Amino acid sequence: MKINAYIARMNKAYLFADIARRVAEYTAAHPGQDILRLGIGDVTRPLSPHVAQAFSKAALDMGTPEGFRGYPPYEGYDFLLDAIIEKEYAPLGVKLTRREIFVSDGAKSDTGNIQELFSPDTRIAVTDPVYPVYVDSNAMAGRLGFQENGVYPRLITLPCTPETGFAPKLPDEPVDVLYLCSPNNPTGTALTYEQLAPIVRWANAHGALIVFDAAYKAYITDKNVPHSIFEIEGARTCAVECCSFSKNAGFTGVRCAYTVIPEELTGLDGDRPVSIGALWRRRGESKNNGVSYPVQVAAAAALDDTGAREVRALVDGYLSNARVIREGLEKAGFTVFGGVNSPYIWLKTPGQMGSWEFFDALLSRAQVVGTPGAGFGAAGEGYLRLTAFNTPENTQAAVDRIVRAF
Ligand SMILES: Cc1ncc(COP(=O)(O)O)c(C=O)c1O
Repeated sequence: MKINAYIARMNKAYLFADIARRVAEYTAAHPGQDILRLGIGDVTRPLSPHVAQAFSKAALDMGTPEGFRGYPPYEGYDFLLDAIIEKEYAPLGVKLTRREIFVSDGAKSDTGNIQELFSPDTRIAVTDPVYPVYVDSNAMAGRLGFQENGVYPRLITLPCTPETGFAPKLPDEPVDVLYLCSPNNPTGTALTYEQLAPIVRWANAHGALIVFDAAYKAYITDKNVPHSIFEIEGARTCAVECCSFSKNAGFTGVRCAYTVIPEELTGLDGDRPVSIGALWRRRGESKNNGVSYPVQVAAAAALDDTGAREVRALVDGYLSNARVIREGLEKAGFTVFGGVNSPYIWLKTPGQMGSWEFFDALLSRAQVVGTPGAGFGAAGEGYLRLTAFNTPENTQAAVDRIVRAF
């Protein structure tokens, strides 16, 4: 059989493998040294007690004749859809119906799979730096051409730097789909109402779709940052929104997420408007069998009053770490971004150091592991991402070591 050359000829997923190799080489040469890891974006705290109890009770219920359930509804149980509508969106003044919410196993799957709804010649734009899933999923589908010198010929990249306020400059060339992530991985910055509104206006004016990744919305603390793109007027006709229970409720190992697709959102089949929600539903009915009952019960528990309180404490703990990193490094003279509405801190490398050079220096001089910004795109060169997903003690120790070493 012939393979999909668009996958075969992709660059290897170097970034985290490269980091792991460098850390392994360093520890082999310096045995016994205590390495502090502020690199990976996985949560570190356990599920909240209320969520864990709901999860385990639902699993035990499945072992009883009355409580057993087979295949779940494709798009999620009504109890979870209702909890999302009432607890996540109603407080924002955003009205949704059950048919507009699609529960899944992850925002990675949803942001990666949504491109199956686009025609092969769809023109894709992403921010730079970027969460790599948006690019890779379109590349695998052959939509971006083959990479040459690290660049996809048919991908439009929109640099997000301090000069642009970490918002993309609207493209001059035609774009059909724009992926946005706010609060952003990796920069840790978030788009304000004022920054997002013109992008929504642009998308409506040009018939473009915005895929809005809100996986980190629980970390928003600033009043001028929207929790949902649907808080912006006009977003219902140009945007889908992908959310997750991973980074708030600690579901990276449990797996539960959801995507919101407004009823009035359409794309074109020739001249004929077609409902995006209907397409996503049709695709899901052929490719998924839903998310397990105990997982959906656990997700709903994370949204009820007790769960929300406990989840808030988890997020606040990470935000407190983010503050320690941001303020500690700022005080020592570093230039830092993010960490206010996000668990990520985007650290400018000192002097003219490159991302990888600073990564190596940080490892050898402070025994701290970060993620080189260049791994997220060309505009990430000269930056390093640090994460707040650690204990307060390790976070403080890492900051102390960095400040002492540089
Ligand atoms: C921007 C962004 N979206 C989505 C995800 C994945 O979320 P999930 O665990 O729901 O697949 C991540 C995980 O790191 C992320 O950083």
